[in-house]
Amino acid sequence: IDEDTPPKTLSSRTLSSVAKYILSGRARRIVVMTGAGISTAAGIPDFRSPDTGLYANLASLDLPEPEAVFDLGFFKLNPRPFYVLAKELYPGNYHPTVSHVFVRLLAEKGLLHQLFTQNIDCLEREAGIPGEKIIEAHGSFASQRCIECKAEFDAAKMREFVSRGEVPRCEEEGCGGLVKPDIVFFGEQLPKAFFDRKDMAEEADLVLVMGTSLQVHPFAGLVNLAEERVPRVLFNLERVGGMGSQADDVLVLGDCDEGVRKLADELGWREELEEKWRKL
Ligand code: APR
Repeated sequence: IDEDTPPKTLSSRTLSSVAKYILSGRARRIVVMTGAGISTAAGIPDFRSPDTGLYANLASLDLPEPEAVFDLGFFKLNPRPFYVLAKELYPGNYHPTVSHVFVRLLAEKGLLHQLFTQNIDCLEREAGIPGEKIIEAHGSFASQRCIECKAEFDAAKMREFVSRGEVPRCEEEGCGGLVKPDIVFFGEQLPKAFFDRKDMAEEADLVLVMGTSLQVHPFAGLVNLAEERVPRVLFNLERVGGMGSQADDVLVLGDCDEGVRKLADELGWREELEEKWRKL
């Protein structure tokens, strides 16, 4: 299908064909790629949505440009904007969404080959997805360290500083360097695990992409690693990243929780999905 062919938008036929493919047992290595769009329903703003996205709402922090909040050079000069944001995003106040729980269902049914997430909110872990199935490609708030001497900083102390909106500094003798969560800032290397497990994306027999603008590389390149004939399903408010250009792409445009619920209906997993989500 070339670029100007109208994308296959959501229709029960396409989702039901995805469901049939999964139920046939031919989809055993499902690779899922997620972004901030699967956590907006949890109350965590995404980055690039106009009006509601974080980058549209950081103007009050007088940043040279929004992304500076995640820029290491800027952070070293002025860590305050990041810590204002960290206070808002810090894990512990949010609840996983139906989309997170759907990925856990895939894992429990032995169908999840690997989850690659760009999110730093740790909601995948809280949803009960097995840790070894999660690659947090942009790190997370789960740990933090001094950017000078690299000494790890105590998590409880970190939570204290963040809740007070204060900037934590290294307490190692004579250091005093800035402490930063192990979140990948622009210009930093992605975790080794991302590169070690990239081949999992090549082995996929079904790719689900959920809630991401696919604007940030190298993560965005993951969607092109699966073989040509491998079906790719996009659950997103908008069409992104060339999804819809391959013959076996399925576009489920709209709220990702609603798209996931429709797929769960087609799979006969809806009750189980809602039950598990309610019990979280
Ligand atoms: N349902 C479906 N799609 C949604 C929903 C929703 N409820 N809410 C938002 N979206 C879509 C938006 O339309 C957008 O296409 O999710 C996408 C979110 O894109 P971004 O805000 O760019 O977030 P993400 O793709 O995760 O950003 C990637 O950029 O800032 C860096 O490192 C940061 O990991 C982040 C990376």
